[in-house]
Amino acid sequence: GTTPVTVTVTGASGQIAYGLLFRIAGGAMLGRDAPIRLRLLEIPAAVASLEGVAMELEDGAYPLLSSIDITDDPKVAFEGANIALLVGARPRTKGMERSDLLAANGAIFTDHGSAINAVSDDDVKVLVVGNPANTNALIAMNNAPDVPRSRFTALTRLDHNRAIAQLAKKTGAAAADIERVAIWGNHSNTQYPDLFHATVAGRPALEVVDDPDWLEHDFIPTVQERGTAIIKARGASSAASAANGAINHVRDWVRGTDGSNWVSMAVCSDGSYSVPEGLISSFPVTCTDGEYTIVPGLDIAEFSQQRISASVAELEHERAAVEELGFVKPR
Ligand code: NAI
Repeated sequence: GTTPVTVTVTGASGQIAYGLLFRIAGGAMLGRDAPIRLRLLEIPAAVASLEGVAMELEDGAYPLLSSIDITDDPKVAFEGANIALLVGARPRTKGMERSDLLAANGAIFTDHGSAINAVSDDDVKVLVVGNPANTNALIAMNNAPDVPRSRFTALTRLDHNRAIAQLAKKTGAAAADIERVAIWGNHSNTQYPDLFHATVAGRPALEVVDDPDWLEHDFIPTVQERGTAIIKARGASSAASAANGAINHVRDWVRGTDGSNWVSMAVCSDGSYSVPEGLISSFPVTCTDGEYTIVPGLDIAEFSQQRISASVAELEHERAAVEELGFVKPR
């Protein structure tokens, strides 16, 4: 048959990976005609538990799964990677300052970016899920000078899906009837979920909702704070929904977006919408033939511009911090 697609997943014994790997093996990400080689990376302390995950993958007897390799060496894990899902990251633990978090993750994503640069396939597509996702992607990208910058992306599809879910709930529409929601900026609580271009069964969403107060005081903060609400309720951060967002992100990037719809992805800015060039920021995008395009020419209301700028300012601060720490060369 066909040559297998090599999919590398880091943090492979963690929560999100547990929601991700079995669906990838089942064909949810790349389709049911694409055989898959899985290459799974963990830190040495988690390799034993990863062996258990690999045993369960075997026990799925997935027709598409041609091999599973597990390792604690990034140079082995990223060998020949066509798709790289960077889920593993250092979580913030008690007493850790934000700068400690950036430093711990800076080291990881420098290492992973260099390994991708050295051993991945020429067509590699990278999705960073591990937080702070946008800035981790920035670090990996800057440490992979031979890989086109367009191949480094970060996950805001979960936020995008959350925005669709809230709008569906408010309007009573089905999620499938909602199009052109957008997430702008950072995957953090400064993100801006935008409904100004969204439609519900083809009608402008804000007309259908007809409640500016809901938009500003309910919808936006609910989407921004949804991750925190889930931690509170579940005692653990969103995992299955994050895995689902990651699968949606890669599936659409590889296989294309639908018709008149678009999706949100954090990608390297080309200066569109006044987002400084080189930042990894979320935009509405369309995808065809394995390439994404930032949706051009949207009218951005003053209400939206202020909120986009606030989130982009946060990304600039994070970039300055990792430049200061030496993970990204100062411009
Ligand atoms: P988890 O703690 O269950 O799993 C993370 C795994 O990464 C652990 O098994 C750990 O050993 C591994 N890891 C740490 N450093 C590594 C390294 N250098 N190389 C390989 N593996 C390494 O965490 P979970 O719930 O799976 O979340 C993973 C990340 O995703 C977190 O940073 C979380 O904040 C982030 N996240 C991002 C979302 C998004 O929408 N962008 C949504 C939800 C979570």
